[in-house]
Amino acid sequence: MTMAVAADILQSAFAQQVRWNEKLGAPFTARAIALAAAAIDQGPGAYLLGLAGPDPVDGAFALRLAGAFHALALTRRDQRLARIYTDLRTADLSVEIIAETLRHHQDFITAFVASPPQTNEIGRSAALLGGFLLLAQRFAMPFRLIEIGASAGLNQAWHRFFYQTPTWSWGDPSSPVQLTPDWVGPSPVLTTARITQSIACDVAPIDIADPDAVLRLRSYVWAEQPARLARLDAAIALARDLGVRVKKADARAFIAQNFAPTPGNLTILFHSVMWNYLSEADRTAISAQLDGQMRAATAQAPLAWLRLEPVAGALAASGDAPSGFVHAVQLDIGAGPDCQIREQILGYSHPHGAQINWRGPI
Ligand SMILES: C[S@@+](CC[C@H](N)C(=O)[O-])C[C@H]1O[C@@H](n2cnc3c(N)ncnc32)[C@H](O)[C@@H]1O
Repeated sequence: MTMAVAADILQSAFAQQVRWNEKLGAPFTARAIALAAAAIDQGPGAYLLGLAGPDPVDGAFALRLAGAFHALALTRRDQRLARIYTDLRTADLSVEIIAETLRHHQDFITAFVASPPQTNEIGRSAALLGGFLLLAQRFAMPFRLIEIGASAGLNQAWHRFFYQTPTWSWGDPSSPVQLTPDWVGPSPVLTTARITQSIACDVAPIDIADPDAVLRLRSYVWAEQPARLARLDAAIALARDLGVRVKKADARAFIAQNFAPTPGNLTILFHSVMWNYLSEADRTAISAQLDGQMRAATAQAPLAWLRLEPVAGALAASGDAPSGFVHAVQLDIGAGPDCQIREQILGYSHPHGAQINWRGPI
């Protein structure tokens, strides 16, 4: 049987998440979490202590609970919550309503919070696009794409989205998925990319054909972001149309099986916000493998590694990262002895790609 976490530890985790949500412009979700904390003290939410695990911050328990509330609203299992979550008036949420929700839907909430949050942020494609276009310009070759940690695989459709920034646009304007990042810095070269193959893996892939899995994905978009939810829905529909598949596989094994030079193609490994989920040993082994392969690659069968990942404090501080931006687009290239590039920072990005400060190649 799972041990109950101490009430003060859970309260502190909830308080921390409330502050984050307020900071990130999600006051409605912040209030739902704050009221759940009150309902724990009052009794109806006390069972959450037995579900939260020993480290509720690390386990993102407050986010799991916020997701469960949103799921109850999205599915209309709770009609009153559905109405409140549609109107999004923070004042309509009260401790009585949250306490009743916790009491009434204990089984649903218990099942929902048992697994970790799952997200797939398509806004990140805008930051990766700058790298893809740079590679398309440099190499007049079709792409062989390999994505790791792809989640539901929605970023597999990056080349079918329309990107509209203040200074440039790219893609099909009639695409159902429209990304509108605030792009600061030089425009990428607005060329086209040909793709011969695109494969993806995730250790816990989200099956977009499974309505329960899709509900979980939708529930983790905060309720006060309806435009983001609509964009997610459009991306899911597009990925279904394109027949996107994500193989259940560990990144290290998937790379070992698939990342290899292919004459006439530029083989690109890409990923976003998944690197820190790997063990230190896997990160070291993958980096060493890629470095060795890139050194051996030729101009006829080049390799590239493109990623959008959080960067360590010193690296972020050494560049022109806008304050608070700790995600960078980085690129490695191996294309023969005269073309070896390592850890080139192409730009910095808001974690969801809402703003991108682009440097371009140096
Ligand atoms: C924060 S999500 C990011 C998903 C997606 N790349 C995006 O940007 O929206 C991290 C993903 O990495 C996956 N992941 C974690 N460890 C992994 C591993 N060892 N191999 C493959 N995928 C992994 C998780 O299952 C999760 O789907």
